[in-house]
Amino acid sequence: MTDEAYEPKIIGFLCNWCSYAGADLAGTSRLKYPPNLKIIRVPCSGRVSPELVMRTFREGADGVMVLGCHIGDCHYSTGNHRTARRMPVLKALLEFTGIESERFLVKWISASEGGLFVETVREFTEAVRRLPPMRRALHEAEPASGVRVPEW
Ligand code: FES
Repeated sequence: MTDEAYEPKIIGFLCNWCSYAGADLAGTSRLKYPPNLKIIRVPCSGRVSPELVMRTFREGADGVMVLGCHIGDCHYSTGNHRTARRMPVLKALLEFTGIESERFLVKWISASEGGLFVETVREFTEAVRRLPPMRRALHEAEPASGVRVPEW
């Protein structure tokens, strides 16, 4: 595959109660967003562990998004506080392992913010598209970081 044909693979972990409902609203409002995003519905953004994000990159995702309820709106009260604490640390860890932090996004999107959801997916997809495909990036990072390249 040449870089011209490169379409980034993006995985989005969306909390059921806010962001998934926001994505659903975008769909029912017929708002279009790039087909690069594959959505995984999770009960709460706080359930997305750093290990899961790292594994998602390792499996070949070019970008990963974690979208949850706004602070104060989490269905489980403090789940997104956990996300807000853990994910910045993960972002720093990504850079340390040779994965550009621009490949990872955490954002709060409510059930009524279908437009924001679409805008976020578009902007993130374009940001990731400017980076090399993850498989190539991992090959380049491998000698220094020891990150193993996944088989396709
Ligand atoms: Fe949405 Fe916790 S339920 S972030």
